[in-house]
Amino acid sequence: MENTEKRKVVFSGIQPSGNLTLGNYIGALRNFSGFPDADCLYCMADLHTLTVRQDPAQLRKRTASLAALYVACGLDPEKNIIYCQSHVPAHAELAWILNCYTYMGEMSRMTQFKDKSQKHADNINVGLFAYPVLMASDILLYQTDIVPVGVDQKQHVEICRDIAQRFNALYGDVFTIPEPYIRKASAKIMSLSEPTKKMSKSDPEDTYIAILDSPDDIRRKIKRAVTDSDGEIRYDPENKPGVSNLLVILSALKNITPEAAAQELQGLGYGALKEAVAETVIGELTPIRQRHAEILADRDGLNAMLIHNAERAQALARKTLRKVYKKVGLYQP
Ligand code: TYM
Repeated sequence: MENTEKRKVVFSGIQPSGNLTLGNYIGALRNFSGFPDADCLYCMADLHTLTVRQDPAQLRKRTASLAALYVACGLDPEKNIIYCQSHVPAHAELAWILNCYTYMGEMSRMTQFKDKSQKHADNINVGLFAYPVLMASDILLYQTDIVPVGVDQKQHVEICRDIAQRFNALYGDVFTIPEPYIRKASAKIMSLSEPTKKMSKSDPEDTYIAILDSPDDIRRKIKRAVTDSDGEIRYDPENKPGVSNLLVILSALKNITPEAAAQELQGLGYGALKEAVAETVIGELTPIRQRHAEILADRDGLNAMLIHNAERAQALARKTLRKVYKKVGLYQP
């Protein structure tokens, strides 16, 4: 039954698989607090990280750190359900069912699968292949309306919609069909050393700014960022990818357009551009880094929050899972 009064549901996740980058922050994390009138769930997608080999101790550490980072970025863990994907078994349970409604051909066309299979040629595992099905399960379990992500995840949200529509066509309106929410201008922050490539937490440290980098590291990395030799500050991603990437970073954090950011710096050199970017990034990230350290220092408080929020998520997820089990014909005494 369509209920027009229903509050919107927002869901997103981040993998605790490396140092989170300024790309994760601008493309995703920063937008998560932009839905004050919705019910929001944000998970640490720890099950997804296992598709690539992880050091177990590092993974545990990074998961706790990401939980603290969500809160440090302004997400109130009472208003938002911040939790760990593996604490809610319904994610893996729904993924099994949806695996049976997803085609091999669809999964083998996923760009990220193709990229990652090249990068990890010695470990092209079944989990890596079925990764988008687990992501679809994350989203569909909560009857999600909106999925804020960077542009690299758009294809995965689209396949999630396809799977949901296929399932609904067979069994009636089981799943809400989600929409991706992508802020166009800042949906893809590029590498500092190779500005035609996405900034990624799995690349070498000097190619990205980590959200938790010190001010000195931020200044040093931005100073070294690749630009070009024509010396003009202009937003032109095709011909000037390095300068344009710096303008995107600057403008996203100042909530202006990249063109307006370029205008403000007219007549100045790249040194001035880099200084403006570095100081703006430092101004944004310093309070986050400080809050993150405080939150992480209270480990008992953090753990209590995670246990409480996993219970909240579990209660919601169970409802959808029960409905799915019933629809497909699994016997329930
Ligand atoms: P992940 O962990 O790779 O990235 C987390 C979020 O950051 C965005 N992002 C970027 N945005 C702009 N510029 C960049 N350079 C950049 N790098 C990363 C990503 O688009 C993403 O929004 N599969 C997902 C995690 C996930 C998920 C979900 C997301 C699991 N379940 C359900 C949404 C809904 C992933 O690996 O993101």
